[in-house]
Amino acid sequence: MVRSTLALSLLATASAALGANSPLTENTGPKQVPGAYIVEFEDGISPSQFRTQAEPEYETRMTFDYELFKGASIQLKDTETAEERAAQLASLPAVKNIWPVRMYDRPNPIRGGETGEAGRPLFKRQLGGNETTPYPPHIMTGVDKLHAEGITGKGVTIAVIDTGIDYHHPSLGGCFGEGCLVAYGYDLVGDDYDGTNTYPDDDPDDCSGHGTHVAGIIAAQGENPEGFSGAAPGVTLAAYRVFGCGRGGTSSDILIAAFNMAYEQGADIITGSVLDASGWPQDPWSVAVSRIVEKGVPCTLAAGNYGGVGLFFSSAAADGKGVTAVASFDNPLVISLWLRASYSVDDGESVDVAWGRSWPEGFDNVEREVWASSLDITNPIDACQPLPDDTPDLGDYYVLFRLSRECNIEDQTTNLAAKGARFIVRYNDDDRIYSFSAGYSEGDQNILGAAAIGAKEGEAIVKALEAGSVVKATFAHPNSADKLFFRDWDTVNPGAVSGFTSWGPTYEMDFKPQFGAPGGDVFSTYPVELGMYDVLSGTSMATPFVAAAYALVSEARGGAVLEPAVLESLFASTAKPQLWSGGGSSPFEDWLAPGAQQGAGLIQVYDAAYATARLEPSGLSFNDTVNSGPMNFTIVNEGSEDVVFEISHVPTRTLYTLTEDELTAEVGFPESVPQTAELSFSETKVTVGAGSTVTIEVVATAPEGLNEKRYPYWSGYIAVNGTDSSALSIPYQGISGSLYEANVVPEAWLAVSGRDGQFPAPPNMTFVLPGPGGDQPDVTPAIVFNLAWGTKYTALHLVPASTSPLNSTVTTQWGFESIGKIWEHELVVRAGFTSPWRGGLGDGTYPPAGSYKLAFVVQRMFSDGSREEDWIVRYSVPFSFAYPSA
Ligand SMILES: *[C@@H]1O[C@H](CO)[C@@H](O)[C@H](O)[C@H]1NC(C)=O
Ligand SMILES: *[C@@H]1O[C@H](CO)[C@@H](O)[C@H](O)[C@H]1NC(C)=O
Ligand SMILES: *[C@@H]1O[C@H](CO)[C@@H](O)[C@H](O)[C@H]1NC(C)=O
Ligand SMILES: *[C@@H]1O[C@H](CO)[C@@H](O)[C@H](O)[C@H]1NC(C)=O
Ligand SMILES: *[C@@H]1O[C@H](CO)[C@@H](O)[C@H](O)[C@H]1NC(C)=O
Ligand SMILES: *[C@@H]1O[C@H](CO)[C@@H](O)[C@H](O)[C@H]1NC(C)=O
Repeated sequence: MVRSTLALSLLATASAALGANSPLTENTGPKQVPGAYIVEFEDGISPSQFRTQAEPEYETRMTFDYELFKGASIQLKDTETAEERAAQLASLPAVKNIWPVRMYDRPNPIRGGETGEAGRPLFKRQLGGNETTPYPPHIMTGVDKLHAEGITGKGVTIAVIDTGIDYHHPSLGGCFGEGCLVAYGYDLVGDDYDGTNTYPDDDPDDCSGHGTHVAGIIAAQGENPEGFSGAAPGVTLAAYRVFGCGRGGTSSDILIAAFNMAYEQGADIITGSVLDASGWPQDPWSVAVSRIVEKGVPCTLAAGNYGGVGLFFSSAAADGKGVTAVASFDNPLVISLWLRASYSVDDGESVDVAWGRSWPEGFDNVEREVWASSLDITNPIDACQPLPDDTPDLGDYYVLFRLSRECNIEDQTTNLAAKGARFIVRYNDDDRIYSFSAGYSEGDQNILGAAAIGAKEGEAIVKALEAGSVVKATFAHPNSADKLFFRDWDTVNPGAVSGFTSWGPTYEMDFKPQFGAPGGDVFSTYPVELGMYDVLSGTSMATPFVAAAYALVSEARGGAVLEPAVLESLFASTAKPQLWSGGGSSPFEDWLAPGAQQGAGLIQVYDAAYATARLEPSGLSFNDTVNSGPMNFTIVNEGSEDVVFEISHVPTRTLYTLTEDELTAEVGFPESVPQTAELSFSETKVTVGAGSTVTIEVVATAPEGLNEKRYPYWSGYIAVNGTDSSALSIPYQGISGSLYEANVVPEAWLAVSGRDGQFPAPPNMTFVLPGPGGDQPDVTPAIVFNLAWGTKYTALHLVPASTSPLNSTVTTQWGFESIGKIWEHELVVRAGFTSPWRGGLGDGTYPPAGSYKLAFVVQRMFSDGSREEDWIVRYSVPFSFAYPSA
């Protein structure tokens, strides 16, 4: 199901106020913690040896004393000079690597059933204890067939890195500790963690829900009232909690620690539904996860939910080499979750009404009379105007009003609140239910509870009121309200690739995602105190499914968890590529969804368990035109008979990475063209002996007649069919054009940045900046730039407006003189950025008042930065700055 508003909000320009040392503001991608760094030590260095060498003053955030990661994360005391200090630390003999600490958002899956979608009837059969339909995500992947054979993942431990697990849940074992389903784990952060203040403890109980949903997808026990079980109910779980109970996110040092802890405590498989846009396998968290994979422990990571922002938008740590990046497919059975309230007319029979969770949620399960702000069920402006003077005090009613398309919800809630309304119920003008928020504008803060219901129910109540009846209703808090699950088969594009799933590849053309699993409209467990069950959508839901599937296949193939590359190859070879659909209610088209969206396709777990042949590697990336060459794949026949394989390929449509202006990334779904690549194989028919392998060479010819400046991304599937009736395939991809030549930063300009946003600065404008320790000025200069591609390194320097008058102290590799570096950032994601500047340089000094330019440098893709032409340099118009006169 497409959630297309995502794309628009992602690309809106951010304009948050910034501190003196100006980290980038962006609206997606990892955010830096000012002054905090992850330091990896050289072999044999201890934290105290490091402290002896390090001059800057710092506090230790956490130490990493792990087999695969030794070092510490530190908080420098002086954030203004942090970059300079970090550069000093980087040059110490004790230091192997140093990276800024980055924040990762709390997973934000899409909640099913909160808002109705056009074309999807809502009220269908209720999912209940009497439901006998098997769970579709298990059927579409063949998991049900493995369950029927008694294969449940026995003997395998899966570590879940998330918000913890509510192990009290009856479907999740009801206990914590040895012998329980959730056998061990750790809370790395504590309940009150907001991203900076850790209070770790031994109890990884879940207070916010996401991790419990993930855990149920893996291992929910079948004896629950919904008759729903996890994909691998026989596994043991370990829970590592990396989020607090509030709204805050987590940080890369916590994530690195959690993965290493899980590895050292013996997890067989580690799964993480935590992510942020990255595109760089060099990201420290991605690097840390890759090391664990290299040691033989498969790690499954969510590909991301940024499906509306085009190609090249993969995520950390899914980007890591060898890490399994998981895409999402929709559940063909659309499950909507609604809450149950009841009402009665003149104390008659109680009638159920389904309502949608809205905000605020403070219903108290008290029966009250219903009062309607209009008795006209067609009123297009119900409650759009202040209510009449003779309106009673509404404080002890459920106040019913109609959705208006002519005024704002804030106007309606303010008008109701002005008459004392505390509990409000909005009815729709059709049979869908749209959630809404109240209580956030100035006039409506006395509202405690808000609910959304359908037109039919709302109109019935208003008619009863019009007839003079007394209607009484009872609404409870969403966490304690009864749930209603409605189910409806998707007849338009059942089992489509989810519109929200993020597209690869990485900026270096590594294949991402690897394949996908059901992640759209997934029913699973939820913390007991938050309602027991919920329906969520996201690659967060698909990822644990693959971890569970890895456990099933390992059990079916002998017990021990297989090598990550072998599992990946088995799953990719047997996965089923899905046809393209534009998401939402767009029907399937007659071409396969591209590799950048679905990887090898939807996993087929039963086939992966019993395949005797497979293809290695899990996908072929032919890179860009400059770096392209023949590639090999290997057919591995582990069966007991010789098999003749026929090799062919099924190309799919090519997608333009950039829009027609050749400058900006295609957002929404990229434009596709019918041209396809051609592949030729060293052999098209080959006999592979029992227990042996044959390597096939593949030469790819890019599609012709396309505009290489728009970077056409081409892909398809290599099909290998055997006389043993095996039908294997792996995806391939390539991009036309030279990524080195790509205009990484098509737009960068000097802006006047203030409370009203940013607008282009005219040349020679004078900014009065506060100087050291000064107050936030009304306006500052800012550099505003859009990266059409990611970059390994970008920096902003202050340079003389003309070369002569100033005594510059640094000459850079970029051919300009620099007064000083204002900031630098590594491994930056494709996005729009704003970076206001308050006058300070990266080393904490302030330049004299004068006339300057900003010089902005960006490293080209596929370059090591050693040559001048590896850099794109943009200069701002000249400007002056002055300090306020004393
Ligand atoms: C359960 O399903 C059976 C068969 O469809 C039906 O006869 C029975 O009434 C149902 N029970 C409940 C409690 O809904
Ligand atoms: C593509 O080529 C570039 C430049 O040589 C290299 O850095 C990158 O790793 C290559 N990507 C793949 C997937 O081979
Ligand atoms: C492919 O395999 C052939 C034969 O084994 C080998 O000569 C060649 O170097 C391989 N090519 C690549 C790109 O690995
Ligand atoms: C290979 O098998 C698949 C699935 O059975 C089939 O769709 C395809 O046409 C076959 N390809 C060849 C070349 O036989
Ligand atoms: C800005 O100032 C520079 C140097 O002082 C001068 O050469 C240039 O003409 C000025 N530009 C404008 C548009 O005034
Ligand atoms: C420039 O600065 C350096 C170092 O501060 C100083 O030694 C030098 O004399 C200065 N040159 C001029 C022309 O002011």
